[in-house]
Amino acid sequence: MELGHVLSEGKTKIVYAHPTDPDLAILFHKDGITAGDGARRHVIAGKGALAGQTTANVFRLLNRAGIATHFVDAPEPTLTVVRRCVMIPLEVVMRRVPAGSYLRRHPEAAGQRFDPPLVEFFLKDDARHDPQITPDEIVTQGIATPAEVEQMITTGQEVFTTLEAAWATLDVTLVDLKIEFGRASDGTLLVADVIDNDSWRIWPGGDPNRMLDKQVYRNAQVVDEDVLADVYARYAQVAELTGRWEV
Ligand code: C5P
Repeated sequence: MELGHVLSEGKTKIVYAHPTDPDLAILFHKDGITAGDGARRHVIAGKGALAGQTTANVFRLLNRAGIATHFVDAPEPTLTVVRRCVMIPLEVVMRRVPAGSYLRRHPEAAGQRFDPPLVEFFLKDDARHDPQITPDEIVTQGIATPAEVEQMITTGQEVFTTLEAAWATLDVTLVDLKIEFGRASDGTLLVADVIDNDSWRIWPGGDPNRMLDKQVYRNAQVVDEDVLADVYARYAQVAELTGRWEV
């Protein structure tokens, strides 16, 4: 499909204006994979198409569940048509089980289960390694209104439980999940950005040794061709599995 001018470029995607509709934008999913705030970076041919397919599968499910998202269409595997948003510079993380940075901050929480899912906010700032930020700080720093913070918590939990239930039908445990929000031109808060295999921890049968997500790449001591092929195979499996959620 035809693309407009570049609005922004990140590590894993390029955001284009829509050629004719100012209310839309087009995401192009790149083949890059990075970790450690960009300290580790590789290219895996075909990863962008898998990211686009997984994102489309996830957002179609959320839209069917009645959650307000930016997703409009995926005309090609590497392209996502979305409602144009002004992004809120926060990573909103929902957790059912303590893992990753939460366990590092709260080692005593090992084995706990959060019900409802715990919600944490991180400020998007690579130079400061995305520091955690409280709801009060979000409001006093003018990043979002109190009503928006409330909505991000409620919608974040709804996104989590919707995806958790979908993964459960495939006997996969959704451990945690990161999403981002944007404001549409009318000010509505929408679930935006991408949600793909870089965005969550997913453990088949609840077994961390069988993880299918990006953590495999983050954990690798040395990244060689074999590791990249293994990472690709897991991303391909996740694109196929999330495709089974289509009704
Ligand atoms: O590292 P941490 O435990 O805080 O990550 C929580 C969840 O958020 C994980 O599923 C991770 O993949 C995701 N995440 C992300 N992008 C980041 C940081 C975390 O998608 N920059």
